[in-house]
Amino acid sequence: MARSAILNVMVQAAIKAGRSLARDFGEVENLQVSRKGPSDFVSAADHNAEKIVRTELQKARPGYGLLMEESGTIEGDDPQHRWIVDPLDGTTNFLHGIPIFNVSIALEREGTIVAGVIYNPAMDELYTAERGQGAFLNDRRLRVAARKSLPDCVIGTGIPFLGVGDHARSLKEIRHVMGEVAGLRRCGAAALDLAWTAAGRFDGYWEHGLSPWDMAAGLLMVREAGGYVSDIDGGNNMFESRSIVAGNEHVHGQLRKLLANARG
Ligand code: IPD
Ligand code: CA
Ligand code: CA
Repeated sequence: MARSAILNVMVQAAIKAGRSLARDFGEVENLQVSRKGPSDFVSAADHNAEKIVRTELQKARPGYGLLMEESGTIEGDDPQHRWIVDPLDGTTNFLHGIPIFNVSIALEREGTIVAGVIYNPAMDELYTAERGQGAFLNDRRLRVAARKSLPDCVIGTGIPFLGVGDHARSLKEIRHVMGEVAGLRRCGAAALDLAWTAAGRFDGYWEHGLSPWDMAAGLLMVREAGGYVSDIDGGNNMFESRSIVAGNEHVHGQLRKLLANARG
């Protein structure tokens, strides 16, 4: 499978940052027993990973702007291109020694996501996609699941954390969807939820309250695997609405209907 030069840059950055995260992940388990807990350590791991990604990307394309979870917006000379980066997605999992976390890097060109990389170093799974070129897990081409009937479907979602998001809405939505599908999953890393939807592990996925860096690479992954992605209202304003619904054509539509019913 041939990758473009720019995708190679993204892959190298994700793998380098992922290796740093994997080393730190090994330490986290030792720190679990200390009273203070490993949260300062995890925050340092997060910042280190972001620094690695930023250095790699800026070395290859000095003019591109960046939107990074930890550093925010860094303007570039080239107004057409922007990197969107989450150096550690799945922080709570990482902190608890759960090996479901990733580095996520997307490239936006004139407002459209054109390339995405999601790397989970704990499982050594590298997801890549380029607009019009398909999505891959390592070297294997991805295709969304073909299931059409909700009772056969496993659906991923996100549940708001303590003190943030709309807990009542989440409970309502879960109640509506839970009664119609084979099973629900909350894996704790939005980029991987989307990558797993692209890989057909999840038949569908929805979440509210996300940021662009949680979704940018993953939404391209799902589309390039033949799936549908929209905001909760069926539009293309995922970043503004901070919501996302994904799946194959059939599941995406049915899931959106269930979520609309949950709103009453
Ligand atoms: C979080 C994860 C989680 C989602 C949250 C995100 P972080 O990202 O993707 O699955 O439910 O909304 O903020 O904080 O671990 O990078
Ligand atoms: Ca995230
Ligand atoms: Ca993060």
